Amino acid sequence: MNESIARLTRTRDLPDGELLTLISDPMGESELAQAADAQRRNWYGTEVYVRGLIEFTNYCKNDCYYCGIRRSNGKADRYRLTDRQILNCCRQGWALGFRTFVLQGGEDHWYTDERICHIVLAIKGEFPGCAVTLSIGEKERESYAAYRVAGADRYLLRHETASDDHYQMLHPSSLSLAHRKNCLFTLKELGYQVGSGFMVGSPDQRPEHLLADLRFLQRLQPAMIGIGPYITHPDTPFHDQPSGDLHLTLRMVSILRLMFPYALIPATTALGTIHPRGRELGLQAGANVVMPNLSPVGVREKYALYENKICTGEEAAECRSCLEGRVRLAGYEIVTARGDVKPANKKSSPK
Ligand code: 5AD
Ligand code: FES
Repeated sequence: MNESIARLTRTRDLPDGELLTLISDPMGESELAQAADAQRRNWYGTEVYVRGLIEFTNYCKNDCYYCGIRRSNGKADRYRLTDRQILNCCRQGWALGFRTFVLQGGEDHWYTDERICHIVLAIKGEFPGCAVTLSIGEKERESYAAYRVAGADRYLLRHETASDDHYQMLHPSSLSLAHRKNCLFTLKELGYQVGSGFMVGSPDQRPEHLLADLRFLQRLQPAMIGIGPYITHPDTPFHDQPSGDLHLTLRMVSILRLMFPYALIPATTALGTIHPRGRELGLQAGANVVMPNLSPVGVREKYALYENKICTGEEAAECRSCLEGRVRLAGYEIVTARGDVKPANKKSSPK
């Protein structure tokens, strides 16, 4: 086996130069995937966890240059789900066996802390034992603390890119990487299982930026790491930029599995969008989570962060059974447990 991959597997780390080679070298891909798959089997067997994703608002106060629901996109058809609609999504999901609900939305101040807490309390009340994940952006510590008291267990906030210059190139000056990183550490302090991550192939991204992303994640030690290819959206300032590359994304998934063997790593919708078997390939490269869409079919197309997003026409049950088949064909099995993260230092017994 390639010496660097063997050492990365053993020590969860490598010097910058060797990591850069693994990031950039297309020849290493299948060996990386094999090592990553072996490592995921050591830690998680063939289990794949499901998270029911509810995209509850596409209003956003931010104006990130890559994102289709950015404030300045006048073509976006905006919507907000009511508490009742959100709970109905959860009911459907619960019946399909989902034990984790992810509430994701733009940064939308219409949902005050009180409203968010009310929704979290209602979900935790009706579905005992479920995990609630929030993915609603940068907030004050007090807000994060209040959601936690209401029962939120996990929080997803991708750092997007860990390099200041690159962050500024992707975002307007009202947003800062320092603030985003602070939010992530605050969330950890408050006891959330924290997920971060980045886009692969975003405009002007170089291998050094991806290396910086890995180094940042080593400091953060997140429970979950979500990555996917950047995909162009026609109604954004980056409309003429190329989308990210499938193979680079797969190599990054494998490197993440080897550096963070305990982590929950989704085979993302963006991966499934750039390639018909993208999610299956993601699983075979080391991912162990899938996030089927539970949003009402009527709003799905409106939550268009990027173009040609998959699963916009299918009912929750269709996505569930479609994914079940895909996961099985890829060589794994969906389990409906909450799927909490394993302690980073303790290796579970291999299945
Ligand atoms: N392509 C791929 N991913 C995107 N995201 C936002 N816009 C795009 C895009 N154009 C990702 C960001 C965000 C997550 C919810 O979706 O990483 O954190
Ligand atoms: Fe949604 Fe296949 S997962 S249709």
